[in-house]
Amino acid sequence: MVNVAGQNHNFYYFKYDTNAIIPKNILWTTLFTVLYSGVHMKNIALFAILFLTVVAGCARKSPEPIAVRIPSRPIDYQNEIKSLLDKRCAVCHSCYNSPCQLKLSSYEGVDRGASKRPVYNATRMTTMGPTRLFVDAHSIEEWRKKNFHTVTESKAADGLNNSLMLQILDHKMKNPAVTGEYRLEANDLTCSETSIELDGYLFKHPNRGMPFGFPPLEKDEFEADCRVAGTGC
Ligand code: HEC
Repeated sequence: MVNVAGQNHNFYYFKYDTNAIIPKNILWTTLFTVLYSGVHMKNIALFAILFLTVVAGCARKSPEPIAVRIPSRPIDYQNEIKSLLDKRCAVCHSCYNSPCQLKLSSYEGVDRGASKRPVYNATRMTTMGPTRLFVDAHSIEEWRKKNFHTVTESKAADGLNNSLMLQILDHKMKNPAVTGEYRLEANDLTCSETSIELDGYLFKHPNRGMPFGFPPLEKDEFEADCRVAGTGC
C-alpha cells in the first residue's frame, strides 16, 4: 500500500510500507512493458512478480546501530542533559506544535516521544483530541495509546544503540553541511516511527539531521545526549 508519495530533484519516488524507494525509471519501464505486452493475464502475473522483485530489491535495510559505552556513574538529568536540550533543541522542540509534537523541554516530553499527527492541519474535517503534555495523558502507556512513539528506546544489542534520537544526531555529525532549504512547516516532514523509516528520510534529505539547520552537536554534547537514551557513547 502506498503511504507517501513525493518528488525531489533526481527521481520521483513512492514509499511503500516496506520502506522501498523506487527510482522513476524502474517504475516507468515496468509500467510501459506491462502496457505494450497487451492486457493478458499471464503477462500481468509475470510482470507483477518482476515488479515485486524490484520492490524487494530496493527495500531499505535497518541502518547500522551506533556503538555506545554504558556510563558507570549516575547521570544528573537537570545539570547535564536539560541544559544541553535547552541550548540546542528547545528553541524548536518546546511548544504544543513542536515538530513531530516532540517536546524536549522536560524529561517527560523526551520520554513521551513524537507523533506523526500534526497539531495544525487545515484539511482536517473533524476535531482531534488535544495532546497537551502533563494534561491529556499521564503515563507512557497512555501516550503510546495516543500514537506517540519513543525516540529514545533502542532495540540494539548491548554496546549498540539504534534509537531515533541517536540516529538523527549521529547523522548530522557525519553530514554537518547546512545546505538546502529549512522550513519547520515544510509539508514533506515525515516524523519517522522506526529507524528504517528515518534512514529512508535521511537518505532523501541528507541535510536534515538534528539540530535542524544548525551545526551538529560537539562530541561532548553528543555524549551527554547519549545518556538521555540511557546509554553512553
Ligand atoms: C530549528 C529547529 C530544530 C532544532 C533546533 C532541532 N530540531 Fe529536531 N526536528 C525539527 C524538525 C522540523 C523535525 C521534523 C523532521 C522530520 O520530518 O522528521 C525534527 C525532528 C526531530 C526528531 C525526529 C522525530 C521523529 O519521530 O522522526 C528528533 C529525534 C529530533 N528532532 C531531535 C532533536 C534534538 C535532540 C535536537 C537538539 C540537539 C533538535 N531536534 C533540534 C526541528 C528542529
